[in-house]
Amino acid sequence: MKMIAAVDAKWAIGNKGKLLISIPQDMKHFRAHTLGKTVVMGRKTLESFPNQKPLPDRDNIVLTRNPRYEVKGAAVASDIDELFRILRSGSADARAQRTAGKGQSDETDAGGTLLQDTDDVYVIGGETIYRQLLPYCDTAYITKIDYAYEADAYFPNLDEDPEWELADESDEETYFNVCYTFCTYRRKAEKV
Ligand SMILES: NC(=O)c1ccc[n+]([C@@H]2O[C@H](COP(=O)([O-])OP(=O)(O)OC[C@H]3O[C@@H](n4cnc5c(N)ncnc54)[C@H](OP(=O)(O)O)[C@@H]3O)[C@@H](O)[C@H]2O)c1
Repeated sequence: MKMIAAVDAKWAIGNKGKLLISIPQDMKHFRAHTLGKTVVMGRKTLESFPNQKPLPDRDNIVLTRNPRYEVKGAAVASDIDELFRILRSGSADARAQRTAGKGQSDETDAGGTLLQDTDDVYVIGGETIYRQLLPYCDTAYITKIDYAYEADAYFPNLDEDPEWELADESDEETYFNVCYTFCTYRRKAEKV
């Protein structure tokens, strides 16, 4: 399982239910990673999307403790155990609901089969979901933005986590006056 997030200089990810900044190249990067894959998110992150709709062309799984919560085009998990049951089940629920949400679908079946392989599962936020699923992840794609915004939601600081290491970092890119890099963090191999 992998994580993908955009963090600021203090590992902040959001404020008042919204992203800190939207960088077009970062949105492309997010799309390139997640398209055709499974995305796992908290209910608040889903509700931060345009029209509160699941992401198209991906199997969406939303975590909420509200047993009556329904969202067209996404599977709903009431806890982490149920999330893993859905992932292990090989997608039936998520795929069925995604297809139902899209009406007639001409997509490939990729999303369905991928669900059995947690390597193609991306945790996409927000803070509560990143923190709970970090122990199950081995890779984190982190867009690091070199500015500290006013914020109320944070990603766990992987630079201070002895179990994680920075494996790769892109050249610095800029969006107006904002500098950012695309980083890959990996869980360190266990010592024998
Ligand atoms: N920069 C980035 O890359 C990035 C990415 C994603 C999100 N964000 C930002 O992060 C912020 C939202 O983060 P957040 O932590 O406030 O909200 P969140 O993690 O998106 O959603 C929290 C909700 O998820 C549900 N939940 C959490 N743990 C659960 C569990 N174990 N079982 C079942 N349901 C569970 C609960 O829903 P119920 O209340 O319905 O029970 C909870 O209120 C926003 O500002 C958003 O823009 C940033």
